Amino acid sequence: MADTLFVVLAAGEGTRMRSSVPKVLHKIAGREMLAHVVAAALAAGGADIAVVVGPGREDVAACARTMHPDCKVFVQTERLGTAHAVLAAREALKAGYKHVVVLFGDTPLITSATLERMIDALRDGAGIAVLGFEAENPAGYGRLVTEAGELTAIVEEKDASDAERAITLCNSGVMAFSGELMPNLLDSIGNDNAKGEYYLTDAIALARSLDVKTVSRVADETEVGGVNDRIQLAAAEYAMQQRLREAAMISGVTMRDPQSVYMNHDTKLGADVIVEQNVVFGPGVTIESGAQVRAFSHLEGCRVGANAQIGPYARLRPGADLAKGVRIGNFVEIKNARIAEGAKVNHLSYVGDATVGEAANIGAGTITCNYDGVSKHRTEIGANAFIGSNSALVAPVSIGAGAYVGSGSVITKDVEADTLAVGRGRQVEIPGWVARWRGKHKKG
Ligand code: UD1
Ligand code: MG
Repeated sequence: MADTLFVVLAAGEGTRMRSSVPKVLHKIAGREMLAHVVAAALAAGGADIAVVVGPGREDVAACARTMHPDCKVFVQTERLGTAHAVLAAREALKAGYKHVVVLFGDTPLITSATLERMIDALRDGAGIAVLGFEAENPAGYGRLVTEAGELTAIVEEKDASDAERAITLCNSGVMAFSGELMPNLLDSIGNDNAKGEYYLTDAIALARSLDVKTVSRVADETEVGGVNDRIQLAAAEYAMQQRLREAAMISGVTMRDPQSVYMNHDTKLGADVIVEQNVVFGPGVTIESGAQVRAFSHLEGCRVGANAQIGPYARLRPGADLAKGVRIGNFVEIKNARIAEGAKVNHLSYVGDATVGEAANIGAGTITCNYDGVSKHRTEIGANAFIGSNSALVAPVSIGAGAYVGSGSVITKDVEADTLAVGRGRQVEIPGWVARWRGKHKKG
């Protein structure tokens, strides 16, 4: 018998998001909420994952499959409640599992460690384990009713008595079931409640009536908070950022002001990386050990080699690949360019679709003119080349190793190695010109 099936419910409409995008595809730290949940299930050993989506939601299915190509997708044609949603995945249940863990696609902060704790509760003899949390404001959540430390029922708010509403221990939505028990329980759940829905939470009272042990485990509210509107989306983003920053710092990254550093879920920062204030990491960034990212820099799709220094105010765009010890200074933009070891681009430059050789020096205000309005072209700059300030390198063009380009040049032809190229108007001096000009333009 296979071990564990994870069933992720993602058929909710999420109308309170007021969005044309389905709720579970809204992103937290650059990744869809559903993808976060599937990632947690995968990390908890979930090779078998079923996702329940609403009708016509190919986009939601595609997101799940991107995370896990073997993921099984089921469509819940009508939205008749959480138990009904799980039943949409009945075919997956038929394979026979020891454990079935149900979780929600809109609870993006759930961790694999918590999911493992839920499965452990089953291994310790429970028929159902529910993940609860102490809610600061329990409004809207199902309440966990306990007697002598045992979980006896979950009561939805709309069906709760005043005494039950006073309970602050709430249902997160994550429930782990003994796989043997589950099919019968699901079939016995009715819809006689305030919402007329088939509540998965009714499984607890039913299981109790069959003498099945039901238990709860408690998680922190920040881990299990659901996202139903944009305010909760922002709260989840905040909590995820906090988690990512802390993980980075624990692994040896210095952050001067962690609150002002924005991470992507896949940001990789090596040991002894220093990140100054107000830095934004977009998708696909790797910073190797000892590198410094100075204040107000924006990075995405790039690699920064060991001991490199970028910023303040640097922008690294996709395909920026910086080797060891490179320096990228203020107001410099690098895109799709490999910058070799020890090269410097220190001020006010744009380097795109280019290679820059080892220890080359790119002067202030250098622009690679990579686009002719139709196509992009490459600029090759050799090792130890020196590009004078305010030069335009009109691609396709190559500057040989060790060559010099005079300041203010517009370079349209290849420059040989160790050669000086100057492409600018010659300076003209006209003695006496100023006195004549002033004489002509004297006032009064
Ligand atoms: C549910 C729980 C409640 C818990 C709360 C935590 C039930 C009956 N109630 O309430 O105890 O405190 O979550 O946030 O389980 N879904 C479907 N199809 C459906 C209905 C729901 O796929 O027919 C999915 C939704 O996409 C969502 C999840 O199930 O991911 C929960 O549904 P929702 O309607 O938000 O339930 P709550 O009322 O919040
Ligand atoms: Mg909800």
